[in-house]
Amino acid sequence: MKKTILVAGATGHLGSMICLALAERGAAVKALVRPESDPEKIAFLTRNGIAPVSAQYSDLKSLAEACRGADCIISALAGLGEVIVEHQSALLDAAIMSGVKRFIPSDFCTDYNPLVPGENRNFDLRRKFKAYIDGKTIAATSVFNGAFADILKYNTPILDLKNKTIGYWGEQADWKLDFTTMENTAAFTAETALQEKTPRNLHIASFQVSPNSLAQIIESITNEHFTVHKISELDQFAKFIWKQREDNPSGEMELYAKWQQAQYMYSMFTTQHPSLDNQTFKLIEWSSAADYLRTFINQAG
Ligand SMILES: NC(=O)c1ccc[n+]([C@@H]2O[C@H](COP(=O)([O-])OP(=O)(O)OC[C@H]3O[C@@H](n4cnc5c(N)ncnc54)[C@H](OP(=O)(O)O)[C@@H]3O)[C@@H](O)[C@H]2O)c1
Repeated sequence: MKKTILVAGATGHLGSMICLALAERGAAVKALVRPESDPEKIAFLTRNGIAPVSAQYSDLKSLAEACRGADCIISALAGLGEVIVEHQSALLDAAIMSGVKRFIPSDFCTDYNPLVPGENRNFDLRRKFKAYIDGKTIAATSVFNGAFADILKYNTPILDLKNKTIGYWGEQADWKLDFTTMENTAAFTAETALQEKTPRNLHIASFQVSPNSLAQIIESITNEHFTVHKISELDQFAKFIWKQREDNPSGEMELYAKWQQAQYMYSMFTTQHPSLDNQTFKLIEWSSAADYLRTFINQAG
C-alpha cells in the first residue's frame, strides 16, 4: 500500500530534495509548513505533487493533526536548540499522539555517538534530542552521511581551489573523510522512510577520500599540482577552536559560526564511518569523488 510520509523542514535544501525523492518513489508526501515558510518554496513543492499541511510548533494540536495518517515522519529541520531540541520534541510528541510509528530526526551529519560531548555544539543539540527520542517507544532511525560533498566547493582549508591546497590536521594525510552528495542523502533517506523497519543508525558516504587521494583525483581532473599540507596537530586545532569560541560569544546564536565550522572539520578528522550501509538500497547510484568534483572544477584540456 502507498505510504504517507510527512516531511518537516520541507522547504529547505535537503528537505525539498527528500520530498522529491519520496514522490519519485510513489509515496504520498506531505510537507509540514509554518506561517513563516517561504511561499515560493511551498509553491514549488505543490507543483511537484507534494501536499503542504500547515501547523505551528507551539501548537501541539495543529501538529498532531498534521501528523495524522503518516507512516513515518522525516525531520530535515535546521537550527539551534529551539529548532533541533524544542521543535523536534514537539513534533515527536505530536507524532506519538497521532499514532505515527517511525521518526527520522534531522541528524544528517557525521556519527556523533563515538565523539566526546562538548566538542561540537551542533552535535550536542542532536545528542540532546536523541536522548529524548530514545526514551520513547516510537522507532527512530538516524541517517549519518558525514559531510555534504558541497563543502568541497567552498574553498575551506580541506580543499582550497583558489590556492590549490589540501589541508589536514594531525597525522591524517591518509585518513578517509566521508562525503555524501545531498542527492544521495535525500534518496537514501526516502528509501529508509519507506521501509517497515530499519536499524537505529545508518551510515552512508557517496565517497570516502583522504587528503592524499583527493589530491590525486583533483590533479588528474585539472592537470595542475595541489599541495597537500599539514595545518597543525589535532590537539592544537582543538585548543584554537575553543579560543575562537570564547572570543566570539555572539557565535552561540549563529548556526554556522566560524568556530562551529571548525568543529565540523575537527570531527571529520577524528571520526569516520567504519562500515557503510550504502548497499541497503541497491538502486541508488552513488556519486564517485571524481564525478562529483567534475561538476564544478574546470577540467584540463
Ligand atoms: N553534514 C553536513 O555537511 C551538513 C551540511 C549542511 C546541513 N546539514 C544538515 O542537514 C539538515 C538540513 O539542512 P538544510 O541545509 O537543508 O537546511 P535549510 O535549507 O536551512 O532548511 C531547513 C528548514 O528548516 C525549517 N526551519 C528553519 N528555521 C526554523 C524554525 N525556527 N522553526 C522551525 N523550522 C525551521 C525551514 O523549513 P520550513 O519553513 O519548511 O518549516 C527550513 O527551510 C540539518 O540537519 C543540517 O544541520 C548537514
